[in-house]
Amino acid sequence: MSETDTDLEARLAEQDSFEPPQSFIEQANVSDPDIYDAFENDWPHCWEDAADLLEWSSDYEQVLDDSNPPFYEWFTGGELNASANCLDRHLEERGDEAAIEWVGEPVDEDNRTYTYNELHREVNEFAAALQELGVGEDDVVTLYMPMIPELPVAMLACARIGAPHSVVFAGFSADALATRMNAADSEYLVTCDGYYRRGDPLDHFDKATTGLDNVDHEVDTVVVERLPSEDAFANTWPEQTRGYDELVENHAGETVDPVDRDAEDMLFLMYTSGTTGQPKGVKHTTGGYLSWAAWTSHAVLDIKPEDTYFCSADIGWITGHSYIVYGPLTLGTTTMMYEGTPDHPDRNRLWEIIEEYEANQLYTAPTAIRAFMKWGAEYPDSHDLSSLRLLGTVGEPINPRAWKWYYKHIGNEECPVVDTWWQTETGGMMLTTLPGVCEMKPGSAGPPLPGVSADVVDMSGSPVSAGEAGYLVVNKPWPGMLRTLYNNDDRFINEYWREYSNTDSDESSDWVYFPEDGAKIDGDGYITVLGRVDDVLNVSGHRLGTMEIESAIVGVEGVAEAAVVGGEHDIKGEAVYAYVITEDGYNHGEDLREAIVEGVEDAIGPIARPEAVIFTRELPKTRSGKIMRRLLEDIANGDDLGDTSTLRNPEVVEDIQRKLGSD
Ligand code: WT7
Repeated sequence: MSETDTDLEARLAEQDSFEPPQSFIEQANVSDPDIYDAFENDWPHCWEDAADLLEWSSDYEQVLDDSNPPFYEWFTGGELNASANCLDRHLEERGDEAAIEWVGEPVDEDNRTYTYNELHREVNEFAAALQELGVGEDDVVTLYMPMIPELPVAMLACARIGAPHSVVFAGFSADALATRMNAADSEYLVTCDGYYRRGDPLDHFDKATTGLDNVDHEVDTVVVERLPSEDAFANTWPEQTRGYDELVENHAGETVDPVDRDAEDMLFLMYTSGTTGQPKGVKHTTGGYLSWAAWTSHAVLDIKPEDTYFCSADIGWITGHSYIVYGPLTLGTTTMMYEGTPDHPDRNRLWEIIEEYEANQLYTAPTAIRAFMKWGAEYPDSHDLSSLRLLGTVGEPINPRAWKWYYKHIGNEECPVVDTWWQTETGGMMLTTLPGVCEMKPGSAGPPLPGVSADVVDMSGSPVSAGEAGYLVVNKPWPGMLRTLYNNDDRFINEYWREYSNTDSDESSDWVYFPEDGAKIDGDGYITVLGRVDDVLNVSGHRLGTMEIESAIVGVEGVAEAAVVGGEHDIKGEAVYAYVITEDGYNHGEDLREAIVEGVEDAIGPIARPEAVIFTRELPKTRSGKIMRRLLEDIANGDDLGDTSTLRNPEVVEDIQRKLGSD
């Protein structure tokens, strides 16, 4: 009889650290514990090891130029092309091996395998097509596509001709698309007609064209026809719209020489939420970012060319950029893409895919793991998951109970689990155990990677003692770091550097990067990340700015004021709670609630959908008039509120609590 959850809990609950299995260490890409000292002693030259994983068309002259902090430059003078690194250099040895294994959502779908030769061919053809459309070096191309193979094809085609891509998550709304296209001055859009979600075809093109109506300049659009004719929507294509298939056919068999890009040239832009309504355009470079994606994929995900590697993230987020596309393909492995959700048509789907493709790694998010846990171990337990060698998580803190469940039921206690802390801005992993070296402590991401210098400090910047909570900081630059916010160097400095740096100094050692996360550190230097300390929520591992949601809500007719906070949620980690004050006399009924939910979905997307909309007369404010968000969070979570007498309007708290209770 298999161990029950209760037995497992009893046995594993006691254990707070786990050694990596000997069998894993023996084959690990990195297994020498001396790497930590070696990298520290040889910093920044240690990062030549990362650059060495790439093929350069001209060698770099300097590893790090830190003469103008925080505008660091890495591998200066070097030239390379990301698409050539992901494709061309693998052709001789691995041309007929699978580069991408794509699994569509419909179960009877003809899933697609792209060998390196095939992927190379299609990337070249589409690169030629982009050139025909007039896309030149440094033109930003927006890619608004779900998990279909044409998305990585388009990314690599852009990289090939030196056009930075800006991928907008397909679940984002039309408005979100328009905001990002306007901010990036992007004159090209590649999108698709639709895709499947839980068995139903979604009309994606309609959303894209609605977005285009709000773009303030002309746009050339390419449409991938993903849906078979029986499910296709009857959309008419506006002018300046071309079909992907026809374009690629027109350029059948053509090749496009990969352009040499300077190491510091932009590879892509990725918009992410911040504390204001305007998303931040995070700029990543060709040399530093690609080295970082490759090195961390090698050292942490332990990827080898012969592996089949599965990351269940969406390419619309940074996780998919670094760890579905760029890292794995640079290493010449087989990377998997799954279009759908893990519970369609039933809760066996993910485990069936892993079993069928004999995946060697699984990299997913705590929110998914908590859902698997809730569904029950019978689903994974009834599949042969013995191909798995390593498990990873990313996106938010993972509670020890979920970690242990993952370790036991998915990894059969034979796979190391890497809890990787990083951000859109860091380009790749920063804090995590090295799976072939370190002991693992559930709930704690682990130490900084070798060559990464991070700490937990108090408000004045002094390191806190072991066990105390403080703020996470990164003390030294790293190759994968963002270079700036697109067209906004001031915001770049204000958001990430001002807090803990001497901004008048041009000494690199006076500059400290602040990721805006709270954390604590233990006596072994293991860091537990506690969550954001700014007004940014983390819903299911996705970052959402409270301001963005609030401005969507106040845009709804009848709403006077809104405050959005995060409340605890079993599966999502955090959920959106919206406190809303209506204009006088406005009916606070179901219709308005619906209009608010719709308003948020239209402005951002379904991921930002409020869990609760609470109508209130007033918001709790300090005497100086600042909304007490912390208090609203405590109310949402049903926590003890402490002393509320310092509020300007203490009576409003009871009013809100009563409302919540009655909802
Ligand atoms: C924020 C970054 C990194 C790709 C996905 C999210 C939180 C991320 C962890 C982790 C605790 C984590 C942080 C971070 N976060 N990974 N392993 N443990 N928290 O990228 O949207 O840029 O969000 O996600 O709060 O700042 P993102």
